Amino acid sequence: MTDGRKTSRSQAWFGARGRSGMLYRSWMRNQGLGHEVFDGRPVIGVATSASELAPCNAHLTHVAEAVKRGVWQAGGLPLQFPTMATGETLMRPTAMLYRNLMAMEVEELIRANPLDGVVLLSGCDKTTPAMLMGAASVDLPAVMVTGGPMLNGKYRGQDVGSGTHVWKFEEDLKTGRMTEEECFFAEGCMARSHGHCMTMGTASTMACMAEALGMQLPGSAAWPAVDSRRMETAQAAGRRIVRMVDEDLRPSQIMTRAAFENAIRVNAAIGGSTNAIIHLTAIAGRLGVELSLEDFDALVRAVPTLVNLMPSGRYLMEDFCYAGGLPAVMAELLGGKLLHGEQTTVTGRTVAENTESAERIISDVVTGLEAPFQPAGTGIAVLRGNLCPDGAVIKQSAASPHLLTHRGPARVFDSPEAYHEVADDPDLDVDENTVIVIRNAGPRGYPGMPEVSNVPLPAKLLKAGVKDMVRVCDGRMSGTGYGTVILHVAPEAAVGGPLALVRDGDPVILDVPNRILSVEVDEAELARRRQTWRAPAERYTSGYTWLYTQNVEQADRGADFGFLRGSRGHEVPRDSH
Ligand code: FES
Ligand code: MG
Repeated sequence: MTDGRKTSRSQAWFGARGRSGMLYRSWMRNQGLGHEVFDGRPVIGVATSASELAPCNAHLTHVAEAVKRGVWQAGGLPLQFPTMATGETLMRPTAMLYRNLMAMEVEELIRANPLDGVVLLSGCDKTTPAMLMGAASVDLPAVMVTGGPMLNGKYRGQDVGSGTHVWKFEEDLKTGRMTEEECFFAEGCMARSHGHCMTMGTASTMACMAEALGMQLPGSAAWPAVDSRRMETAQAAGRRIVRMVDEDLRPSQIMTRAAFENAIRVNAAIGGSTNAIIHLTAIAGRLGVELSLEDFDALVRAVPTLVNLMPSGRYLMEDFCYAGGLPAVMAELLGGKLLHGEQTTVTGRTVAENTESAERIISDVVTGLEAPFQPAGTGIAVLRGNLCPDGAVIKQSAASPHLLTHRGPARVFDSPEAYHEVADDPDLDVDENTVIVIRNAGPRGYPGMPEVSNVPLPAKLLKAGVKDMVRVCDGRMSGTGYGTVILHVAPEAAVGGPLALVRDGDPVILDVPNRILSVEVDEAELARRRQTWRAPAERYTSGYTWLYTQNVEQADRGADFGFLRGSRGHEVPRDSH
């Protein structure tokens, strides 16, 4: 039955004798599977997060077909199953609220079923970390295949980037440079094909992170969703997972501390999203790998930004693909001794071996270390101070250099909505030095830590030609966003972090070179204010959102549920009959 292979996990189901085996096999045969497929060959789950409610993932059913071809080619049995999809654009109050739920679902579906390995098909922002978190907690052989970016957006002869141009168009609309009708037309031009955001937003970032961690095949992150080579890669992943099952090559051997260090540095080199910090921390938590916010600051100081992509630069993922994609970036970093080349990946080969033949093909898109797109030290910085004792984050490359050192009076809003209500008021009491504080947008506060931090500037200042202002928030920012925005302030206001105590007019100090975010109010006064502070009323007393608010950890811990940390393995559960 098992042609020399050791008895597989799936054989605990399909190889069972008597009534039990009959139950497990018979119902599967209603799909036209012959008895020969239960001979002990690796059974590979093809987990797809395809959904018409998550447009970035809608095409994954086609990608799954390619994966399945590969699994059959290598002598495995592919079984496709759906997972939840956390679509960024439609889900309210934020897809992030559901990342942990999706991770739980992925974990439990893999463990409960007769699987020996799994291929994870993701696309939109949260779907990639959710799947990696779930798979890490089961620790069966796993390969990720992200669905690929959309083709470059094109509007009136210009490249337009998903997300990034939404903010630009909004500003143009507010200042009268664009009409409503032009915006309506432009939104169609921004989404020309299947795929996820084609800027270096969170989806592209996390696809690159999966590749940098060694969890997807080299080059896989950048193929556009509609490029036939996306399907070739998917097919190759299908073949590879079958071998991985034979080799018993599992996520815990691939996603080591060294792999996370590689990913953190790659994120700096690609000018990736701040959201990667939260997601990588959460994935690491599933594997028992300790990552602190300081790691994210210290590891990237020597890494320049090599990739010239929106929102920090001008190109898009399609260009990145033609320029050599992530292997070109990783080869360059390896050359500068900025990566652990000996780390194993899903190919069974090391990072160094995977990138041996990689080259930078268009050097304006993927620059070299000798003349980088942005110098080292301009990446994501981690701040501390009496406003954020557990840290805060700023993406320097998306900020205005003149604001990186700034002192200005706070103008405080208890919610993003409170700001939006008055943002267009011509008499709003702000000027370009004001620091806009938006609070109660953290993991517990919103709930779900939405991407609301980069609020548009007040209309009166936009009209006066002001291009950027310092904003401070305990929420997140879309990976496609930009501006001098301090994010992920921890602890958040809703749990009584110092952000909750700031008042209008308090001087806020931002000193990014020295990694400081503080408020010039003395400790005694802050203590007095704390005495009168009351936690916002609990809005949820049942249901998933209650579970979330009771268990979610702060941003610096990855906003996972405390009870989901660690791996729970892949022991075969008790019989069901
Ligand atoms: Fe899905 Fe950007 S909205 S990837
Ligand atoms: Mg996003």
